[in-house]
Amino acid sequence: MAAKTLTGNSIIVSLAPALGGLLFGYDTAVISGVIEPVRKQFHLSAVYEGWFVSCGLLGCIIGVLMAGFLSNIIGRKKVLMLSGLTFLISAIGCSAASTKELLVVARLIGGIGVGIASVVSPMYITEFAPAKKRGMLVALYQLAITIGIFLAYLINAGIAASAETIVASPGFKGLLFGRENWRGMFLMMAIPSIVFVFILAFIPESIRYLISKGRLDLAKNILFKTRDKKVAEQEWSLLSSTQKDDNNGNTKGAFWYRMKFPLLIGIFLAFFQQFSGINAVIYYGPEIFKKAGIASDNALLFQAIIGAVNILFTFVAIRYADKAGRRSLLLYGLAGLIISLVSIGFIFRTEGLPSYILLICMLVYIACFALSLGPVTWILINEIFPAAYRVQGVTICTLAVWVAVWLLGQFFPIMLDTLGTSNTFWLFALCCLFHFLISYKYIVETKGKQLEEIEHLFIAH
Ligand code: BGC
Repeated sequence: MAAKTLTGNSIIVSLAPALGGLLFGYDTAVISGVIEPVRKQFHLSAVYEGWFVSCGLLGCIIGVLMAGFLSNIIGRKKVLMLSGLTFLISAIGCSAASTKELLVVARLIGGIGVGIASVVSPMYITEFAPAKKRGMLVALYQLAITIGIFLAYLINAGIAASAETIVASPGFKGLLFGRENWRGMFLMMAIPSIVFVFILAFIPESIRYLISKGRLDLAKNILFKTRDKKVAEQEWSLLSSTQKDDNNGNTKGAFWYRMKFPLLIGIFLAFFQQFSGINAVIYYGPEIFKKAGIASDNALLFQAIIGAVNILFTFVAIRYADKAGRRSLLLYGLAGLIISLVSIGFIFRTEGLPSYILLICMLVYIACFALSLGPVTWILINEIFPAAYRVQGVTICTLAVWVAVWLLGQFFPIMLDTLGTSNTFWLFALCCLFHFLISYKYIVETKGKQLEEIEHLFIAH
């Protein structure tokens, strides 16, 4: 098996599961372009529209739970391939749906894919990566999310802009990309889904999963093919001694003792990544710009710039996650988030400011998120759990991310109406301040450490 797999280069192997992030980003962002045409075509009531938008999130929750359960039974690689297939089925299903009910079912299936990918993609990379590159490689997953979001904006805009010239074309082309162009927006996801499933076939199974199943020879074989000999030897001795401890029951019994601190930290990181208001900016950005009196066309342009800066600044994390470390990125990023959020709040209280000032503050905000909370949250929630309970821990924390995404989606419009725009952004600033204080006190640096060492760090803490 190992001979046929991409074992030579850890970056190339990690790019395959990272592509799950691209599908996650695309699937969650594509909805922004399709809501209006779908509403018109199927005469959706407000309640049904809400259901159409949120059924993807319900799918995510189902997907997260399935991923947790399945990845311990059939392995990480097969579960990742399953998520690729669900994305493919969803892309085709959404684009072919003849009724609103079928559309909801197809969206739900896509959501399951997102849920699975959000657990298993970063977990696979975390388990696979050499300790010295782990931060960078998991940050690639976040990079893929940001590219997926940006691609969805671009493709939606491109299809919408060319629809008029295609509308009269006969056959499927005219239907999918002209008359009912929302179908084409969904269908485009089929391309990365096929690429995803195809390249996953070439990656090896997670070393740590193989060890947990007692397939030590295969695990060792893969480890030695993906590391320098010296590094592989050190890693193997640590891995096998941890495995012996687990097998002898030396550590397994004390679930709560080993999991209490990582779980509290992980759930906290998951919730407060979202309470920074990120998805309010990512998904309601144009509305926010319009509220500040910016014209509709400019609002969309500004949103595209935000998407591009989100991608660009993720490279800072890719470069520094293993050098400066997770903790520094987190604290500096949070400081920047607090300053930009407070400024945005003031802008909405001040009349007559030029529109580029709001744009600049929003760009500082997204840049700080992209280099800190975005990648570091996923890096840490995948690193901090002991091997024996990693799947359970990561599943619970990822579930917390999706619950928080849902909460924010439900309450952000209400917050804008009741608290007003300034107070809403100040509330996000307060959440970031709280995040800063807790992280300052409790987040231990994990850069360069083996996963098996991190467990002890956290217990000691
Ligand atoms: C978050 C998503 C967010 C994205 C933005 C991810 O880390 O989990 O909720 O939309 O970053 O880049």
